[in-house]
Amino acid sequence: MKSFKKREKFLPFSRPTIGQQEIDEVVDCLRTGWLTTGPKVIKLEELFVEYSDGRQEAIALNSATAGLHLALVTLDIRPGDEIITTPITWPSTVNVIEHCGARPIFADVNKDTLQIEPKSIEAKITQKTRAIIPVHFAGAPCDLDQIREIATQHNLSIIEDAAHAVGTEYKGRVIGSDSEVAVFSFHPIKNMTTGEGGMILCNNHERAQRMRMLRFHGISRDAWKRYSKGGVPQYEVYEPGFKYNMLDIQAAIGIHQFQKLSYFNHRRYTLAMNYLHLLRDVHEIMPLAEMPYDHVHTWHLFVVRLDIDSLRVSRDEFIMALQELNIGTGLHFPAIHLQHYYKNKYGFKLGDLPNAEWNSQRLFSLPLYPSLSEADQEYVVDALKYLIERFKK
Ligand SMILES: Cc1ncc(COP(=O)(O)O)c(C=O)c1O
Repeated sequence: MKSFKKREKFLPFSRPTIGQQEIDEVVDCLRTGWLTTGPKVIKLEELFVEYSDGRQEAIALNSATAGLHLALVTLDIRPGDEIITTPITWPSTVNVIEHCGARPIFADVNKDTLQIEPKSIEAKITQKTRAIIPVHFAGAPCDLDQIREIATQHNLSIIEDAAHAVGTEYKGRVIGSDSEVAVFSFHPIKNMTTGEGGMILCNNHERAQRMRMLRFHGISRDAWKRYSKGGVPQYEVYEPGFKYNMLDIQAAIGIHQFQKLSYFNHRRYTLAMNYLHLLRDVHEIMPLAEMPYDHVHTWHLFVVRLDIDSLRVSRDEFIMALQELNIGTGLHFPAIHLQHYYKNKYGFKLGDLPNAEWNSQRLFSLPLYPSLSEADQEYVVDALKYLIERFKK
């Protein structure tokens, strides 16, 4: 067997691209003495209103998780309600359903794209269903037209988990620009970051106002309006809210990240195409299939599936071997219906969601971020080939 020269430096799975503009804006924020929600958050929200072509209201938050929670709270979701979502998602998409006392119902995903399957959504609708939370997985859009048709027929709300999808387009429109509610994440691995953070785009003024109030304790005025010149310190609690507001320190980073987003997304696209090219003859590594409808993919993740049937190792052993060769990988995502809490509470078992489960045992994500080099990618693919050769049955 051929030997393999291990690189010296660890290649992380993800790394944010932070420039001097972000650093200067954070320093400016610290110097002004106004650190929490204020003018920089307002500016970032304005940029997102513009992004939606002025059609939507934007509400900045300290995470996408907070946004998903507020989206459910403002639908008055309560015990007895059912919310349909995908099992291939980050836990928070589902945890927030539990926080409202409602029941998560899982629709299976498409085996090759990992997007939620509209047919499976339809099959899971009952009298108790109130909303659907589809995820635009990995930076590609799910099939919104079909999901919207189902939602309209059954009078259901749609909360788009767009944590992966800032800049993603579906049939010529950016995700969030014509949504009831879409929620973006700015966690450091995302296509743009604010450290931690999230943004809701919402098409309904009253609901947006309620979300704004709920993001800051349920009171009528946030601190910026109370303590800045001309503000008055009085406030009124209208309903018990949360502490979900974004800081100006975070927005300072986000304003510049947003301005670089098309460059970031273009670079991700170039790198993704290069991975597809380098992997074209590596049959044991199966990338996801392309969506059959008109779309722009922002390549938040480069997810592949390992052909474990032809190898002597499991996916987990394989990614440990990659780690030993100084390559970081991600898992997006182990099917959540089989995670401890959900499995025990609802009695889910293997066989309930076959496509999600098949992928769950095989998937992992390769390093992908704007500062990754083509040479890094060649190293990753050479390492994959080397390990496949080593572990072949
Ligand atoms: C699909 C999905 N939804 C929601 C979230 C939550 O985002 P945040 O970390 O900003 O709360 C994530 C985060 O990774 C995600 O991947």
